Amino acid sequence: MASRCTVKPMRTARAVPAVAAQQRRVRAKAAQEVTGMVFQPFSEVQSELSTVNDAPVTQSYARVDYHPSCEAAMNEQINIEYTISYVYHALHSYFARDNVGLPGFAKFFSEASEEERGHAQLLMDYQVKRGGRVELKPLSAPEMEFANDDKGEALYAMELALSLEKLNFQKLQALHAIADENQDPALCDFIEGELLQEQVDSVKQHAEYVSQLRRVGKGVGVYIFDRELDEGEGQGA
Ligand SMILES: [Fe+2]
Ligand SMILES: [Fe+2]
Repeated sequence: MASRCTVKPMRTARAVPAVAAQQRRVRAKAAQEVTGMVFQPFSEVQSELSTVNDAPVTQSYARVDYHPSCEAAMNEQINIEYTISYVYHALHSYFARDNVGLPGFAKFFSEASEEERGHAQLLMDYQVKRGGRVELKPLSAPEMEFANDDKGEALYAMELALSLEKLNFQKLQALHAIADENQDPALCDFIEGELLQEQVDSVKQHAEYVSQLRRVGKGVGVYIFDRELDEGEGQGA
């Protein structure tokens, strides 16, 4: 997917590499004018070669133009995905109770929990690929009771899930903005291609479920809705 990153002036933290890059470009252009060569790898690669050579074994050799702000924001998003996974797991265990008796909702939220855990894994893999360090942070304990006299637990839980999906969409957009600010088109592309579009679809799906649950009421309608969730495949959030 094409990146939406815009080109903006370099920030202070990148000013020094930017100047060095500019100097390299000027030297390369001068050399090109003299020799007619477009790309002279052995002269242009010298500064990067010394960076690799001097890197201690505790540092990534692969890391290139990966800003610490992006690394920190990725670790925050990993925590967000884990936390939402944790809430969906709590919802799974609530609906699986014998006195609640809605196995379709239990299955739906179990799959949703696994999916959010999968997103955390995706982010971790990318963090490692770019030479960043994964930092797992504490998770806040979710509520465990979802009974609601007004709406019924099914509608209440689905409204909660819709709100979490919308919040996660905003968090992903904030992550994308940090990648954009730090001129990281590869990270922008990863967020757009692997996470943002799927999040849009997820918000729409949850919004439809909320509408349907509002129509069916709290009694037999929820029972039928639960049967349909139980028979459905891969409808996780
Ligand atoms: Fe997610
Ligand atoms: Fe989700």
